[in-house]
Amino acid sequence: MPEPTSPPPPRVLAIANQKGGVGKTTTAINLATALAAIGERTLILDVDPQGNASTGLGVPRTARKRTIYDVLVEGETLPAAIVPTAVPGLDLVPADPELSGVEVELAQQPRRSYRLRDALAGLAEVRPPYAYVLVDCPPSLNLLTVNAMTAADAVLVPLQTEFFALEGLSQLMRTVDLVRQSLNPRLTIQGVVLTMYDRRNSLSDQVARDVRAHFGDTVYETVIPRNVRVSEAPSFGKPALIYDLKCAGSQAYLKLARELVARERARKKAAA
Ligand SMILES: Nc1ncnc2c1ncn2[C@@H]1O[C@H](COP(=O)(O)OP(=O)(O)O)[C@@H](O)[C@H]1O
Ligand SMILES: [Mg+2]
Repeated sequence: MPEPTSPPPPRVLAIANQKGGVGKTTTAINLATALAAIGERTLILDVDPQGNASTGLGVPRTARKRTIYDVLVEGETLPAAIVPTAVPGLDLVPADPELSGVEVELAQQPRRSYRLRDALAGLAEVRPPYAYVLVDCPPSLNLLTVNAMTAADAVLVPLQTEFFALEGLSQLMRTVDLVRQSLNPRLTIQGVVLTMYDRRNSLSDQVARDVRAHFGDTVYETVIPRNVRVSEAPSFGKPALIYDLKCAGSQAYLKLARELVARERARKKAAA
């Protein structure tokens, strides 16, 4: 009997930017939903104590029996903490406010930056396998974000299309460099995605041009527009794509998912 071949490990993307309110969680939820919709099984890890990704995916506090805290601190396995969402092909590991204690709880632990990475090994036994794992990071360059970057293959950076978009980015890039040098040599920048683009505001265009001049091809062609349906959806515990598939924001996230998959295919081909 031939050995059953194990599926390739999922591609792990940390959605990070230490600025709050730039669209990390919105991108995690809707990009993941779009990926699942086009047939790429996806797992979201909510690594923000605010738990916005969990709420936005319709998993209320009371339903969060096991959380990413249990995985990172208590040694729970990752598969045991996975809950399904209403979206076929999209699962979640939720977060709750307890997670804000991680920094203190893990302070004396030897492999404290590798907690998430070690836990991800547990996904090897999950069937059907995930194609993508998206990690929704907190708005800070703390131990949680370092865990996400250490576990990730690459970082996806949402940038709000506003005047101060590039502010603070050198700090983010320095953190990526530090993690690459000391904890995770394979870490790259997967892409930069412009969010909350406002076509009625001429400044948006100027910002988009500046960001492209600075980051070149790393910036996704797809731009996420500012769209009220996208901001309403989380209060219904639904991704925008489920709340209103036809709205401009949902369509943009679908386009982003297709562009991301194409980018990943090209990368794999180049590496082969
Ligand atoms: N494309 C968009 N159109 C309108 N509102 C958006 C859009 N993306 C995000 N928002 C809103 O902006 C706020 C911050 O977004 P969020 O994804 O929570 O950012 P972060 O996770 O980076 O803190 C939220 O209220 C969210 O609903
Ligand atoms: Mg968030």
